[in-house]
Amino acid sequence: MARSFAHRLAGLPAPATIEMARRARMLRAEGKPVISLALGEPDFPTPAAVIEAANQAALAGQTKYPPVDGTPALKEAVARKLLRDNALTYTSDEIMVSNGGKQVIFNAFMATLNEGDEVVVPTPYWVSYPLIARMFGGVPVYAPCREEDGFRLNAQVLAQAITPRTRWVVLNFPNNPTGAVCSKADIEAVAEVLRQHPDVWILSDEIYEHLVFDGAQAFSIAAVASDLKERTITLNGVSKAYAMTGWRVGFAGGPKDLIAAMRGVQGNATSGVCSIAQAAAAAALDGPTDLVRDMAQTYSRRRKMVVEALRAIPGLTCAMPEGAFYAYPGIAGCLGRTTAGGARIESDHDFAVAFLEEEGVATVPGSAFGLSPYLRLSCATSDAVLQQACASLARFVQNLR
Ligand SMILES: Cc1ncc(COP(=O)(O)O)c(C=O)c1O
Repeated sequence: MARSFAHRLAGLPAPATIEMARRARMLRAEGKPVISLALGEPDFPTPAAVIEAANQAALAGQTKYPPVDGTPALKEAVARKLLRDNALTYTSDEIMVSNGGKQVIFNAFMATLNEGDEVVVPTPYWVSYPLIARMFGGVPVYAPCREEDGFRLNAQVLAQAITPRTRWVVLNFPNNPTGAVCSKADIEAVAEVLRQHPDVWILSDEIYEHLVFDGAQAFSIAAVASDLKERTITLNGVSKAYAMTGWRVGFAGGPKDLIAAMRGVQGNATSGVCSIAQAAAAAALDGPTDLVRDMAQTYSRRRKMVVEALRAIPGLTCAMPEGAFYAYPGIAGCLGRTTAGGARIESDHDFAVAFLEEEGVATVPGSAFGLSPYLRLSCATSDAVLQQACASLARFVQNLR
């Protein structure tokens, strides 16, 4: 059989996050000890009360096909959450529940993009925005967020990236991978640019909103600039804040017509999210907030510990993230050098591969996120693992010739 696959998949790279995880698995299979700072996944267990709510839902017979756009109970909990945390009012037909925040993006782009439509993505970015856009014929256009600007989005840079073909602008603050958090003034400036482009949709990915440190605060553009709410998808989910990555529950608030179109997409793909997971997510959103606060404090402490260790390594630089759970050190000072194992470091990809092979620590190169030469280290793991990884990194860099 002559095998061929859809054109829309041509040239789509596997996300480097997954590629690094694959290399780490191969090394482990060879019996080598490997630690991983590659995945953005909380190391905490899902709160017990949330698991209990799932248990109760299953026992109570909530085991049938749920509505495509979410159970009434979860949609009500989402509406309460968006009002409480974001000062945003959404009615039931303006809310949709999906299989993770990822499916929200998939639904939104599939429902709106035509061949050649541009999607403005600030760099560095979470790997999935450009990849999903490209699956639907979209063309990612990048708006660089520079380290000198604290990796925040500069409104002028955004203005330059928008063209008559722009269909979407993606915002993700607190940001994966840098942890940058845009101030209210930053968001207001971005909103002013977007007002000049009334045909552009806005995707505001707020999945790390609760993980903010040192007094930083996350803002929803739909609340800061309420005139833009009618063309904004406010994306969130339970994966990061409630340590629920495996439950696959994300949600969106947005205008009725777009939510209806997204419901149409999802209805023909996965239908409604697992009813038991939805009951769990509702319990998480309505549950006590101190658990989230405690986890955020732990991430904050670990981030400081890691950043201080990284800054002490000659050849590395590292901005202090204000949110999320990653560190994003610059490795420019290591380029053009050779590792103890004889590998030449010409890029952050070379660095990440050699670091994994020689020290057994998996990280993700900045090239995966559209800004080099950097590395992303996830701090969502134990202090002991983080300390070991930082010691390995110090040794690896010290041994460069
Ligand atoms: C910025 C950002 N948005 C969305 C997601 C999607 O998360 P999920 O699909 O688990 O809700 C992730 C996960 O890594 C992320 O980092």
